Amino acid sequence: MKVHLQTYGCQMNKLDSELVTAALKNGGFEIIDSEKDADAVLINTCSVRDHAEQRVMSHLGLLKHIKKTKPDMVVGVIGCMAQRLGAELLADKTVDIVCGPGQIPQITELVTKALREKTKTIAVTEKIRQKSAEDDALEEFETVSDSDDKRIPNQAFVRAMRGCNNFCTYCIVPYVRGPEVSRPPAAIIEQVKRLADSGVKMVTLLGQTVNSYKYDTYCLADLLGMVSEIDGIEWIRFVTSYPAEEFYERILKAMSELPKVCKYLHMPAQSGSDKILKAMNRNYKAGKYLELIDKAKEIVPGIALSGDFIVGFPGETEEDFKQTVSLVQNARYKNCFVFKYSPRPGTTADKRLQDTVAEEVKKKRNIKLLAVQEKISDELSKEFQGKEVKVLVEGPSKKAKVNPCSEKGCAQLIGRTEGDWIVVFDGPMTLAGEFAKVKITRTSPLTLFGEMG
Ligand code: 5AD
Ligand code: SF4
Repeated sequence: MKVHLQTYGCQMNKLDSELVTAALKNGGFEIIDSEKDADAVLINTCSVRDHAEQRVMSHLGLLKHIKKTKPDMVVGVIGCMAQRLGAELLADKTVDIVCGPGQIPQITELVTKALREKTKTIAVTEKIRQKSAEDDALEEFETVSDSDDKRIPNQAFVRAMRGCNNFCTYCIVPYVRGPEVSRPPAAIIEQVKRLADSGVKMVTLLGQTVNSYKYDTYCLADLLGMVSEIDGIEWIRFVTSYPAEEFYERILKAMSELPKVCKYLHMPAQSGSDKILKAMNRNYKAGKYLELIDKAKEIVPGIALSGDFIVGFPGETEEDFKQTVSLVQNARYKNCFVFKYSPRPGTTADKRLQDTVAEEVKKKRNIKLLAVQEKISDELSKEFQGKEVKVLVEGPSKKAKVNPCSEKGCAQLIGRTEGDWIVVFDGPMTLAGEFAKVKITRTSPLTLFGEMG
């Protein structure tokens, strides 16, 4: 039987999809690229903003059409939207399976049953904020099934922790992914060792607030130390960090002292206004956040920073937004992601606050903040001009397919520095998954261009 799996959303979801792929293959299913030839189509979904959910809904609309000519095709919705909407999704005629992020260990069983019995099934967590026996099943599933279908050669994602306890007022994550659970270091290390044996050179440790990783006496800095000792692993990253003092210096020291730990920190600020930060239930003030940023630059010279921002949160005035602009100017990120506030049903912000900022204003602020950041990115990228950088090559660039460079087996390649700067250069295709030295000859705000030395 053939399964097609489509993934929306963040790295967590992509990792879940890798685990689902591995489990289905183990269960004898073939994973295929073509949706229309599949016996079962699974959509791994994201709920973080309404736009992400709308994309899934229109995808379901397309599947409804396909099902008209292929009524036996099974459609499954997995992930955050499945957990958030549950039975509501199952009521859709197109949908046969609804499976939350906590139930992915059951996926093979659910697909098999749906194909055989042609019945609808739902598997979601009843009480999402309570610890349940399902956590153990999830841990077991994660530890035994090696992630598969690597999208980027020799790179892998490994979960350090699941869930979140922060309850930022705008955010759906704690309601769909449950409470924070740190995974046992032994399980993580075992997994990374297996990945290293299979040729993986870079691992990214994942967690919604990965810097709060805590298991017995181990914190993230300890974990970074342990992963550093694994032969074959050359670069280690971790995302996403919450601006908090706990463990902060220890983590930065690990970054400065352990050569394998990339000098890169993704630490969302969300806003530069203390009033808005308070309304978001972020537990810091803008000044404190900037102090943390300064400390990072002091302990780890040359650190590359990135951030997330939400514009148009309820009550955000021009003055609040100006403070965000000023924070961005002070922090000097390598890049940042800017999102327009999207009310999420069930969150505190949605229950208590009106979505007061007009869509055009959100859009205007989004464009403005990105423009401010672009200028900074441009200035920072220029510092690479004429310098040689080490990159981990991902593969041919998108452009390479239409315009391969003249030499045989050679293409325009794309790679990243340890600070996550994108580097574009010509080189042999065989370099995918390998490290290369590239001399930077031209820069743009988001991309460095160069030549192999
Ligand atoms: N609206 C807009 N952006 C959001 N994010 C999380 N929830 C929302 C929301 N309701 C953003 C935050 C977070 C990133 C992953 O998505 O900036 O860091
Ligand atoms: Fe959402 Fe806040 Fe948790 Fe991040 S820290 S996942 S924004 S609740």
